[in-house]
Amino acid sequence: MKTIIEPFRIKSVEPIRMTTRAERERLIGEVNYNLFGLHSDDVLIDLLTDSGTGAMSAAQWAAVMRGDESYAGSPSFYRFEAAVRNLMPFKRIIPTHQGRAAEAILFSMLGGKGHVIPNNTHFDTTRGNIEASGALAHDLVIEEGKDPQNLHPFKGNMDLDKLRAYLAEHGDAVPCVMLTITNNAGGGQPVSIENIRATAEIAHEFGKLFIIDGCRFAENAYFIKTREESQKDRSIEDIVRDCFAVADGMTMSAKKDGFANIGGWLALNDDALATEARGHLIRTEGFPTYGGMSGRDLDALAQGLSEIVDEDYLRYRIRTNAYIVERLDALGIPVVKPAGGHAVFIDARAWLPHIDPLAYPGQAVAVALYEIGGIRSCEIGSVMFGRQPDGSEKPAAMELVRLAIPRRTYTQSHADYIVECFEELSAMAPTLKGYRVTQEPALMRHFTCHFEKL
Ligand code: F0G
Repeated sequence: MKTIIEPFRIKSVEPIRMTTRAERERLIGEVNYNLFGLHSDDVLIDLLTDSGTGAMSAAQWAAVMRGDESYAGSPSFYRFEAAVRNLMPFKRIIPTHQGRAAEAILFSMLGGKGHVIPNNTHFDTTRGNIEASGALAHDLVIEEGKDPQNLHPFKGNMDLDKLRAYLAEHGDAVPCVMLTITNNAGGGQPVSIENIRATAEIAHEFGKLFIIDGCRFAENAYFIKTREESQKDRSIEDIVRDCFAVADGMTMSAKKDGFANIGGWLALNDDALATEARGHLIRTEGFPTYGGMSGRDLDALAQGLSEIVDEDYLRYRIRTNAYIVERLDALGIPVVKPAGGHAVFIDARAWLPHIDPLAYPGQAVAVALYEIGGIRSCEIGSVMFGRQPDGSEKPAAMELVRLAIPRRTYTQSHADYIVECFEELSAMAPTLKGYRVTQEPALMRHFTCHFEKL
């Protein structure tokens, strides 16, 4: 069959409150054109993030009822631990309330002034936690990964030559090598198993820990299965196990490929490091058998991990994204290609060349998309990255707009509606105007700054 259907039926629904274009034009003006300021019930299709926004299954809701809220030694923890270890064979698994809490604990131990940490591309919270510790974060993704139109099948790969040179140059200043699968900040692009193994080998050759940021591990494994010849007959579970078998630890946001609304973990093989991490955990998150989660979250997550590696689900998941990318491409809208795992990325700089990067073409697209169709997306360009530590402003490397697709939440007709809105937007693209920031906080301005239409 040509159509890849959603491999689930719907048992429980959340109504979408319909709004008119006039209403939306008023609402976005009232929040000074910052989409983070909107109430989510004024949004028709919310593509701000795929993090914690997925739909849980009937089996996960049943698992919620099984959750045991004992402070210490809850059976929910042991079910969670077994489910993680079934896929990621690490010795010590430390539950946290979300991914960044795992990062904060890890870098409170491995970070610090004088240290430098390479990654294909650090996600912003990873970079934030590294920099807050006094260390520096560096991105060593392959060159193909920085070109929105390059069709390389694994644009998230680490540049192995650069990594080797980096480790030779920085020596003792490097506590660990990280790899983010899939590479979110680089467009949700996958990393091949060959590259994961080679990165591990180089890290180990230099005596460094190899840590995977595994947020979207199942999507990454599906790309490996479908794009890496040697892996095509293997199960997703086996591919996942092999990816993590070469690592010394991982950080995880279970809000992505854990099918959870909240949760995460830090895993480590080194006993001494794990014991130190547990100390941090008790101080900041909670007792080691719940960390930052409730028993019911741990049980929902344990169940979610058995569902996320289902190949029918992953085929539908990856296809939805590719479908939107293909249709936008056919409309002549510049999109990051090939389609990534969790999101569609629009290249706003290429689409709106008449808007200067510092008049934020990505913001112009994101606001217009909300006004036209009530779709909430996110600018990833000069609004997010343009403000420099010295207060000056310079254009970001790319002006992207991300439409992150929540898991199992929207249907095919929502995807068609998104494409229709883009069709309308495409017709008025040459007339779109840029924006000016009128008010901003000192840090991470994109969440709260105010804009004015030029
Ligand atoms: N690493 C990656 C690759 C991520 O994408 C995220 C979160 C984190 C770490 C942090 O995890 O949110 O659970 O603390 N990404 C979300 C996003 C927020 O929208 O891409 P967290």
